[in-house]
Formats: sequence, structure tokens, C-alpha cells
Amino acid sequence: MTDLLLLPGDGIGPEVTAQVRRVAGKIAPDLTLDERPFGGTSFDQHGSPLTDETLAAAKSARAVLMGAVGGPRWANAPRDKRPEAGLLGLRTGMGVFANLRPALCFQPLADASSLKREVIEGLDFMIVRELTGGVYFGQPRFIEDLPGGGRRAVDTQVYTTAEIERVARVAFELARGRRGKVTSAEKSNVMETGLLWRHVVTDLHAREFADVELEHILADNAAMQIVRNPRQFDVMVTDNLFGDILSDISAQLTGSLGMLPSAALGAPGTPGLYEPIHGSAPDIAGKGIANPLAAILSFEMALRWSLDRADLADRLFAAVNHALAKGARTPDLGGSLSTTQMGDAVLAEL
Ligand code: IPM
Ligand code: MG
Repeated sequence: MTDLLLLPGDGIGPEVTAQVRRVAGKIAPDLTLDERPFGGTSFDQHGSPLTDETLAAAKSARAVLMGAVGGPRWANAPRDKRPEAGLLGLRTGMGVFANLRPALCFQPLADASSLKREVIEGLDFMIVRELTGGVYFGQPRFIEDLPGGGRRAVDTQVYTTAEIERVARVAFELARGRRGKVTSAEKSNVMETGLLWRHVVTDLHAREFADVELEHILADNAAMQIVRNPRQFDVMVTDNLFGDILSDISAQLTGSLGMLPSAALGAPGTPGLYEPIHGSAPDIAGKGIANPLAAILSFEMALRWSLDRADLADRLFAAVNHALAKGARTPDLGGSLSTTQMGDAVLAEL
């Protein structure tokens, strides 16, 4: 059985996952690694961004680590063959419905944020984004021509009780191991799905998680509070689209999108999908200057959540912090280290 399947993908994906390979070889040489083409790269080679073989390999590995997908080269590919379609297919195919996206201020980077140090120092909250439902997948969806000219586009936002409950459960359980507070974000003031979301989270809380503090917030207010006073949050649970947006805002709080990992989890015992939050960054792809820390920290999350090696995860996290404390910086953090040199800096601390 493969322990870790690497899907380097497109853009800077191969550059940053190469550093994961080096780190894994050092910290956990017993892990079996495998690698497959994914995204635009897979489309070029096999005519599909996600082949059946790759999905089968992903489902039978213990953990999957994806680099990045997409780029201008595939902008005109048919929608169902776009690299992004491969990623959505992988998420649903693996059934990873709960996406954990940390917003974490690394102490040595407290001045790298666009917010004041006193607002973000010590920041540590987690967004739990619903990942396999909502408007990303709801039917019907189409663009049609109107008889009188012009066109009409339809997307559908849809959630069931079961979908809301299972992701909320992940958030409550997570909060129990942290500071014991869950903030649930939706638009119950204007959306039916938001109203159901609020009811289901409230019920589940009363039934099973009364020991955890629960607060409800409207998603637009959440966006404002995240830049005003982000340390008020511990765990924030929200739907697929709001989670996409709020997690980008939260990631930027910490100085660079190049720093943050994510974990997508499904039912217990099924493999997790780990991805750096940054995209394929076509503007710097191939230059060897991408920050590999988000990918390396995604591996850290894989060690913790899928590979039962929390001890190694702790060591790796400390190594990244030490490397940063000693001044290791790629250009996104205002430094001049290459991707490989940043990998070296982490390896040196291990
Ligand atoms: C993300 C990305 C993806 C998403 C894209 C690439 C499909 O923005 O992981 O946040 O919207 O989920
Ligand atoms: Mg996004």
C-alpha cells in the first residue's frame, strides 16, 4: 500500500512537491511514496486532468498530497477537462468533505502581514470549509441562450441536513482539542441554505456538543471580523463558496499565501487529501523561487491526520519555525532563497 501519493500537478506544483520528497526521505524514510500526473499535466499526457487510474491510486493510498493545478495554457480547454475540474473530481471521488485550512501566524513572520503586528501576533484559527457540496456541485447548472438575445446562467446552491451535520461535527470535534469555540458562518438572512445551515448546526450543538461554545455569524460580517480582530476565532465552519473566499482572506493575514497548508478529510479510515492553499502561480513557475513551506506543512498535516505520525509532524513543524527564526525567506517573504535552498534550510533543522 502506498503511504503517500504525490500529485505534483501544474505550475509551481512540481517544484514545491520535490521539496516534500526530500523532507519525507529525511524524516520518514520508511514511508512508501508514489507519484502520478494530475491536472493540466495529466490532460496533456492522457487527455484528462484526472484519469481513472489516478483516482483509484488516490483512493487506495493512505494520504494524497497535491501540489497545484491550472494555468493559462489550459484556459480554453473544455470546462470538464480543465485542471480545476480534475481537482473537484478528486475531492468528490475521495469523498473528502471537510477542508481544514489553518490561519496561523508564525512568530518570526509577525511583521510580514499587511495587518499590524498587534492584530495578528499569536493568531491561530482554523477554517473548516465544506468541500464536496454547495454551489460548486449543485444541479441544475448551465448557460443557455435566450430567445430575445443574451444568455442566462444558472448555478444552484444546495445542502442537505446530512452534509451540514457531518462537516459541523468535524468542526466541533476539532474545537474540543483547541480553545473550545466554533463560529458558524452563513447567510441565513438571505439564503434558504443558510437558514438550514443555522438550524442544523444549532441542533447538533444542543444534542452532542453543548460543552463547546457556538456562535453564529453572517458570512459578510465574518469577512470584516477576520481583518478587524482575527484572534477572536478558534474554529470557523462554513460552506464551500464562503470557505473558499474566507480562507484566502485568512491566509493572507499571515503574510504570504505561500505559507499555508490544508487538509481535506472524509469518513474515518479513508485517505486525506493535502494541498498547499496557494495555486499554481504561473507567473513564477519554473523559476525555482516558489516558497515550498505550504507544501512541506501540508505533508506535516498528512503525518498528523492520515499517517499516525504526530511525533514527526511536531518535529517538522518545529523545524520550519526554526528555519524561519534563523531568517530563511523566499522572495514572497521578502528574502532571496530559492525553493531548493528553503528546502535545505528545513532539512538542516531536522
Ligand atoms: C481552492 C481553489 C479551488 C477552489 C479551485 C482551484 C478549484 O481556489 O482550493 O481554494 O475553488 O476550491
Ligand atoms: Mg480558493
